[in-house]
Amino acid sequence: MFTCAVILLLVISHVELRLLVHTEVGSIQGVPADDGDYVMFLGIPYARVNASNPFGASIPHEKFDKVFEAFNDSVMCPQIREIYLGGGDPYKGALDCLHLNVYVPNTETTDKAVYVYIFGGKHDHGRSQRDLYGPKYLVRHDVIVVTFNYRLGPYGFMCMDIPEIPGNQGLWDQYKAIKWVRDNIQAFGGNPQRITIGGHSSGAMTADMHLLTKQPRLFQQAILQSGSATIPGFVRPSDKTALIDIAEKIGFKTNDTYAALSFLAKADPETVIKTTAKYEYEWASCVEKEFDGVVPYIDENPELSEGINIDGLNILSGFTERECIYTLYSPSYAFLLKSEDILRSDLGFKFNLQNHSNVLDIIKHFYLGDHANGEINKYEVVDFLTDFDFVYPLQRQLIKYAKHKDTNVYQYLFSYEGHLNRMKRYYNITEPGTTHSDELGYIFTIDFLPDVPNTDDQHKIDQITTLWTNFMKYGNPTPVRTDLLPVSWPPLTADTVPCLQIDSNLTVISRPFHRNMAFWDLFYAAHLDKLSII
Ligand SMILES: *[C@@H]1O[C@H](CO)[C@@H](O)[C@H](O)[C@H]1NC(C)=O
Ligand SMILES: *[C@@H]1O[C@H](CO)[C@@H](O)[C@H](O)[C@H]1NC(C)=O
Ligand SMILES: *[C@@H]1O[C@H](CO)[C@@H](O)[C@H](O)[C@H]1NC(C)=O
Ligand SMILES: *[C@@H]1O[C@H](CO)[C@@H](O)[C@H](O)[C@H]1NC(C)=O
Ligand SMILES: *[C@@H]1O[C@H](CO)[C@@H](O)[C@H](O)[C@H]1NC(C)=O
Ligand SMILES: *[C@@H]1O[C@H](CO)[C@@H](O)[C@H](O)[C@H]1NC(C)=O
Repeated sequence: MFTCAVILLLVISHVELRLLVHTEVGSIQGVPADDGDYVMFLGIPYARVNASNPFGASIPHEKFDKVFEAFNDSVMCPQIREIYLGGGDPYKGALDCLHLNVYVPNTETTDKAVYVYIFGGKHDHGRSQRDLYGPKYLVRHDVIVVTFNYRLGPYGFMCMDIPEIPGNQGLWDQYKAIKWVRDNIQAFGGNPQRITIGGHSSGAMTADMHLLTKQPRLFQQAILQSGSATIPGFVRPSDKTALIDIAEKIGFKTNDTYAALSFLAKADPETVIKTTAKYEYEWASCVEKEFDGVVPYIDENPELSEGINIDGLNILSGFTERECIYTLYSPSYAFLLKSEDILRSDLGFKFNLQNHSNVLDIIKHFYLGDHANGEINKYEVVDFLTDFDFVYPLQRQLIKYAKHKDTNVYQYLFSYEGHLNRMKRYYNITEPGTTHSDELGYIFTIDFLPDVPNTDDQHKIDQITTLWTNFMKYGNPTPVRTDLLPVSWPPLTADTVPCLQIDSNLTVISRPFHRNMAFWDLFYAAHLDKLSII
């Protein structure tokens, strides 16, 4: 009886210990997860939006003076939601949104590898909640998973060339979230020297910015899924009249940037977001202008950046087979049928060559032959977008990174088609081939996909999450051959570009898409002096 009570007491205090952590910023209480043996610390604030200038740098969050109850991850930053299931108002959000979630496996280990995941969403939508990025598949491998919100749209990515809004505020939010993790994760049982950052799509593009910034590096590894900072359109010129224009559209006419700023700082975020969405503003990162007393996050075009922080970094990165098939199902479909226009506008995001008709003709001949418009060559347009927007810039970046000292770059090609291919399932895509976002369904749970995968899909989840978490733990996705992973995935070398094809089987292939990549190698070599952003 007595022994039993002592054991019960021990068990209780043990559980309590794991739910309550004591960090540098105060004590934080979590909740047990209901879909696995791990604890969730939800909605921990890591920074604060400056109410006088919500478009500018975020400010530190004060320490907690009593236990912070990390029970609620429902806040998202102001946005028009895209993956929006159900009716009602697609706008949602609040400026008090700079929160992160920490998912900690319920195990004895005290130096767990840590994965900080950055969601994608074209800089204007996205959120960190569990219904989109559930950690169940990853935490089984004894790694801590962190997801977080960063500011989006005008609040995160307005680039005005003024010291108050130099641009890339959302990147600074991300940096602060990663720093919070570095400084506090030990209290959760994490190893601050074993941090992997990663992301998908614009999340990967921004993750790549953390490789290229001159700020001190806060992590040891990076996972870039279908995105790099060199993707066309990811970095754009600043828009010095944005504040004045948006203020005017909301009904405040002024010629003075600072008057527009004070007006918009007080305006309801819902009005600001709905207005910028209505007028189809697109938000991007920019190359910041330098100002006294303002530290830039990015001060050169990523295409030309050597990356002073890349040495010794491990990188795992890759793409799907037909990244842009989804565009045939997206709202921009009609535009796709105007193939010449899309070639021209996409090219313009990267090169000042839109008016060089001979150059456009060569690209047209390469992808479309003599066809020019319409349904007839929509798949060829998709091939162009897949190569120019994703595969080429990413592979080019990986080859560049692999030249750094002690840097291991592992490249993958995801071509497995099961029931969890996220974008294919979302749009009910019937064409063969995997598209953008498809691999995410085998890494995170998401509420519109089956939560009990079939045997084949579960096997794929086990393989992919083991590869990914091996990389987080050891810097190498296949340190040993096992029944689950009967393969050795080699990194890029000075003259080879191996790639793990993740299909029904795992196969090491070499230099994927090499013909098209060679076309773009020649193209870049000929036109690198005509980049549209310097
Ligand atoms: C908040 O923004 C205002 C306006 O730009 C600025 O004067 C103030 O210093 C900022 N606050 C902090 C704590 O940085
Ligand atoms: C979580 O926070 C949201 C937004 O602040 C609030 O509306 C909701 O009631 C909270 N949920 C719980 C369970 O406290
Ligand atoms: C803005 O400047 C122009 C030219 O200087 C002037 O004509 C106009 O009245 C000004 N508008 C406002 C709202 O001050
Ligand atoms: C291309 O031509 C258009 C129309 O003539 C012109 O407005 C634009 O500035 C030109 N773009 C470049 C990059 O030269
Ligand atoms: C996809 O198919 C499912 C099941 O038939 C349906 O509920 C859903 O609305 C479809 N989605 C789209 C975008 O067509
Ligand atoms: C996968 O590997 C097995 C065993 O080597 C082989 O029988 C099968 O044909 C392969 N499947 C594919 C799609 O390549």
